[in-house]
Amino acid sequence: MDPVLVTGATGTVGGSVVRQLVAAGVRVRALTRDPASARLPAGVEVVGGTFTEPSSLVPALRGVRRVHLVSMAGDGPQVAETLARAGVERVTHLGHDDPSKVDDDPFESWHRQFRKAIEASGMEWTHLFPGEFMANTREWAASVREEGVVRAPFGDWTTALVHEDDIAAIAVRALLEDGHAGRTYRPTGPEPVARRDAVRLIGEALGRPVRFEELTPDQAREHWRGVYPPEVVEWFLEIGGQGGDLGWVSPDVERVLGRPGLTFARWARDHAAEFA
Ligand SMILES: NC(=O)c1ccc[n+]([C@@H]2O[C@H](COP(=O)([O-])OP(=O)(O)OC[C@H]3O[C@@H](n4cnc5c(N)ncnc54)[C@H](OP(=O)(O)O)[C@@H]3O)[C@@H](O)[C@H]2O)c1
Repeated sequence: MDPVLVTGATGTVGGSVVRQLVAAGVRVRALTRDPASARLPAGVEVVGGTFTEPSSLVPALRGVRRVHLVSMAGDGPQVAETLARAGVERVTHLGHDDPSKVDDDPFESWHRQFRKAIEASGMEWTHLFPGEFMANTREWAASVREEGVVRAPFGDWTTALVHEDDIAAIAVRALLEDGHAGRTYRPTGPEPVARRDAVRLIGEALGRPVRFEELTPDQAREHWRGVYPPEVVEWFLEIGGQGGDLGWVSPDVERVLGRPGLTFARWARDHAAEFA
């Protein structure tokens, strides 16, 4: 069987795509910018390459017809063209799309370039534009481990956080089955989760309470200084101040996988060791 190339294979969703393909008995080739430090399951072929130099992708594409593509800053149009020219027929594209934003919005522009280039490439495509990842709460792991506390703004911020395994499971279906071409899936979790409840559920998974200390926007600016670029911090504070999307739940996980999405309580148990 021809190998499936997984980009972002060292990342949250890509890592799960790799594990699920391996479990399904599929040959997997993984792309990373740093093959020496990538830790991937036995049997996975690891190949170097970067989207910022699309020609560097050519060795990874040899003999490949299906690709899981994560959009990261890079030359989207050149990346899509390189894939199509190498003979790739089917792409699952993990990215982000906010139709309310203009094309040159700094957080949209490169995502949008990837999306448009993929759609124009002639390859079969399936977009995955998920809601907020449960895995983003890993940001809290150090303070939970060291002090039993989470410090964050907007305790009432509520979104239907999504488990990376559900996003990856949809990608795997779209890579291996027909019937997903030209579809855009927007997977979310099965239920709205407020920030302060996510903290409580991490405590329950650990078997000890975890405190939530709500930061004011100014305290959050200080807390995130040096962790995220200033414009990203301001973006977080802007969307946080709007209260989140109030927990909109997408039907896509259940529709594609035929079962409800995995809950945050389940995610917290799956990842408890990282917080312990
Ligand atoms: N986090 C969220 O809540 C959220 C929500 C909706 C959509 N998304 C989208 O989901 C995608 C994944 O985001 P994430 O934050 O979870 O990242 P991630 O997948 O955990 O990590 C990024 C991955 O991209 C690879 N990568 C980075 N730059 C690259 C480049 N120039 N060329 C090739 N590969 C590169 C990295 O591989 P190496 O380091 O091994 O090279 C790494 O595996 C993004 O498109 C993001 O916008 C995220």
